[in-house]
Amino acid sequence: KKILVMNGPNLNMLGIREKGVYGVKTLDEINDFICGQAEGLDVELEFFQSNHEGALIDKLHDAYGRKDGVILNAGAYTHYSYAIRDAISSISIPCVEVHLSDIHAREEFRHVSVIADVCIAQICGKGEQGYIEALKILLEEKQ
Ligand code: DQA
Repeated sequence: KKILVMNGPNLNMLGIREKGVYGVKTLDEINDFICGQAEGLDVELEFFQSNHEGALIDKLHDAYGRKDGVILNAGAYTHYSYAIRDAISSISIPCVEVHLSDIHAREEFRHVSVIADVCIAQICGKGEQGYIEALKILLEEKQ
């Protein structure tokens, strides 16, 4: 299966940004970890990060007809981007929402995910391991 792993705004700052909340690993290190865990699985991964809503939407559109699943940490866009939500529902590719931190245990504004009901699952509070759980869910999905 071809899986797109997408990270949104400020996730390029992992390793520097709020280490107590998000951990000490950089995004490259997390992506390497995902690659390592995916070794031996029948999966082809592509990684993408952007701080721009439109770029994330373009990449989702690009995935149409090309990818079998999307793992998305949309960062703060999770909480208010109806445009990203509509992009996910436009492409009809199974998408799993991932958050490093437990968004339900943080500020009130993070409790709401406007993308949750167009995703097949939400995984949060498990750090980088969340991406692996998301991958497993997508690999179990029927084509
Ligand atoms: C996040 C949680 C969001 O609330 C926040 O805006 C992020 C990261 C997470 O991975 O825990 O940028 O998606």
